[in-house]
Amino acid sequence: MDRKQMLNYPILIESGLLQQPKRWLPKKFADYDLVIITDHLVKKYYGKALADALKKADRKVLLLTFPAGESSKNQKVKTQLEEHMLRKKCGRNTLCLALGGGVVTDLAGFIAATYMRGIPVIQIPTSLLAMVDSSIGGKTAINTDYGKNLLGAFWQPQAVIVDVDCLRSLPRQHLINGLIEAAKMFLTHDRRSFRYLQKRLKDCLSGDEKMLRTIIKRAIAIKKKIVAQDEREQHGLRQTLNFGHTIGHALEKLSDYQMLHGYAVAYGILVEAKIAELKGLLASADYAEIAALFAAMDIFPQDLDRTMIKKIRHAIKYDKKNRAGESRYVLLKTIGQVYSRSRAWVHPISDPLLIQAWREVTGEHNAWQ
Ligand SMILES: NC(=O)c1ccc[n+]([C@@H]2O[C@H](COP(=O)([O-])OP(=O)(O)OC[C@H]3O[C@@H](n4cnc5c(N)ncnc54)[C@H](O)[C@@H]3O)[C@@H](O)[C@H]2O)c1
Repeated sequence: MDRKQMLNYPILIESGLLQQPKRWLPKKFADYDLVIITDHLVKKYYGKALADALKKADRKVLLLTFPAGESSKNQKVKTQLEEHMLRKKCGRNTLCLALGGGVVTDLAGFIAATYMRGIPVIQIPTSLLAMVDSSIGGKTAINTDYGKNLLGAFWQPQAVIVDVDCLRSLPRQHLINGLIEAAKMFLTHDRRSFRYLQKRLKDCLSGDEKMLRTIIKRAIAIKKKIVAQDEREQHGLRQTLNFGHTIGHALEKLSDYQMLHGYAVAYGILVEAKIAELKGLLASADYAEIAALFAAMDIFPQDLDRTMIKKIRHAIKYDKKNRAGESRYVLLKTIGQVYSRSRAWVHPISDPLLIQAWREVTGEHNAWQ
């Protein structure tokens, strides 16, 4: 199968899908054993129900879990899950079902990419963040002591199954977490959808399924389009989806992964948008609109520990986008469009500019110390 075909997997966005696995399990895996990988919270909500539905459909299923949260996205948990699969004699004819939020889609996806040199995976995102972003596009990864997502693989799923009923149990904080990644997609590529999100934010925050479905569909459409053009970030276009992530990943790591990914990205977006504004690329009015959207989600950069810029400058040294020791940033040109120069989508930024942006965004007056 060529790469283009591999990127052309089915993506279902509907309700009631978890109860009807026959509808979406590809026939070519009819004789495969199934392994559901999920975290212990999602197991309670949906894991057991999915396993039961699969057993009813006469499928052999192994249900594996790990503790919920970003701190599980590491080598140790990966090895534990793999050893469990080996003990249970999972062979190459095993289909992995990654059921959960972005931690599960990244971790289980990476296991699928390396287990017996690669077994097929179906991504079944249950958090909004995973629905709009991490389940699509085949990036899988774990964190290391050196930084976030530093070990991983590109491993495209066989299908992505978005059962929107799962959103009903998602706490508000995690709705916001996902809306931020959707906002990132719209800010970088789709002004109209950003306006839609601005207008419908209240409905989205109250869990309005129709609005959330629209957000999911629009975000997925953007991600699919970008990935189709630059699956492995070879041309750089896919790096635009890293907007806010140079700073965001550093914040996540510095919080010992206690800060939720989306929130870290929101702060990162504000600092990186401020850099673009200070460089004269982004209008101040656009920056104000972004800040207002996040404020409506109760995200205020003034809440950050203002003295941490020194640590951030250290943490970004391990960013994957670095070249020749320089950190690089996605810069916004306007809402819905990123700045590119000589076909480069990420740009080095001087330390003084980074510090000034940090200072202005957090209200810090003494950020050098
Ligand atoms: N690979 C990619 O392209 C990509 C893109 C964006 C983010 N990510 C990664 O995604 C991760 C963040 O994802 P996340 O925020 O979904 O984290 P997560 O997987 O930890 O999920 C957040 C929390 O919500 C719970 N949860 C999930 N679904 C639920 C539901 N339906 N009801 C109730 N609780 C539910 C989980 O148990 C967890 O406690 C980060 O590691 C980030 O690096 C990857």
